Amino acid sequence: MKILVIGSQGQLGNEFQAIQSSSSHDFSFVDQDNLNITKEAEVQNYIQKASFDVVINCAAYTAVDDAEEDEDLAFAVNEKAVKHLVNACIKHRMKLIHFSTDYVFDGQHHKPYTEKDKVKPLGVYGKSKRAGEEVILKSNVSSLILRTSWLYSHYGQNFMKSMIRLGREREQLQIVFDQVGTPTHARDLAQATLTCLDQHKIWENQQKLYHFSNEGVSSWFDFAKAIFDKEHIDCRVQPILSKEYPTKAQRPHYSVLDKSQFKSDFKVEIPHWLDSFRNYYQESLTTAKIL
Ligand SMILES: NC(=O)c1ccc[n+]([C@@H]2O[C@H](COP(=O)([O-])OP(=O)(O)OC[C@H]3O[C@@H](n4cnc5c(N)ncnc54)[C@H](OP(=O)(O)O)[C@@H]3O)[C@@H](O)[C@H]2O)c1
Repeated sequence: MKILVIGSQGQLGNEFQAIQSSSSHDFSFVDQDNLNITKEAEVQNYIQKASFDVVINCAAYTAVDDAEEDEDLAFAVNEKAVKHLVNACIKHRMKLIHFSTDYVFDGQHHKPYTEKDKVKPLGVYGKSKRAGEEVILKSNVSSLILRTSWLYSHYGQNFMKSMIRLGREREQLQIVFDQVGTPTHARDLAQATLTCLDQHKIWENQQKLYHFSNEGVSSWFDFAKAIFDKEHIDCRVQPILSKEYPTKAQRPHYSVLDKSQFKSDFKVEIPHWLDSFRNYYQESLTTAKIL
């Protein structure tokens, strides 16, 4: 299949570039400089240039706190631009793969969220991502939405890189331990998406939504500890409550995703986040790519 990956310079977009050679599909990549998805005419022109079979949308406004003061742009990228992609995909009979977030939930659960659970985003980012999901779910585009959580990768910006920088600068850090979710290696999400491409009969001609993250749970505090351990960073980490670390955007206290549907439909096992985390470091030893 001919695949177009939009948002190719982000964490996930870069992971698709890294793994494309392991796939039999023909990949093309485009970044924001060459395709701004908020511009409908640009989207239509770009997509009609080549006959792609699938558009994978990795582009998103992902600055969770900034979104609180930048609502228009967050919705322009995460909702309105998704509508442009949906229209273009319908017009040119292409399938659309899109990504969403655990932040569509309010975090009041004490068991993993399934695809059927009620959404109630707490902040602008989560609301804009939910609005993007709705654009797709209310359309008749042949599509797949993968909701994921706490992405990290060698590329772009993420919690892991912030921790490594801060941990090297400071003797002590306070990290919240009452927000629980699952760190997810963006490489695993990209690989899972390839599995979905290979098994496209399961979702094509529908609007399917699945949860995908690594297995297991962690707090940000535990994740930071694991990072410092691997990096041999001698920074004391103190667990604190979210209310002791006010942020512009409120985040869910619990946003673990239930992946049962994904595992059963695509017949795959998903690695535990600690195993993927170790693999990430194993790979780093050979590529020396971190920071
Ligand atoms: N990161 C996470 O922890 C996380 C968690 C759950 C879900 N997700 C979802 O997973 C997906 C991938 O996330 P990610 O971490 O790879 O995001 P990312 O690293 O922030 O990358 C997003 C990419 O989108 C591009 N972009 C922004 N506005 C654009 C526009 N108008 N037109 C074209 N491209 C545009 C950005 O370009 P610039 O850098 O030039 O702005 C960037 O390259 C997103 O849908 C995100 O909502 C992420």
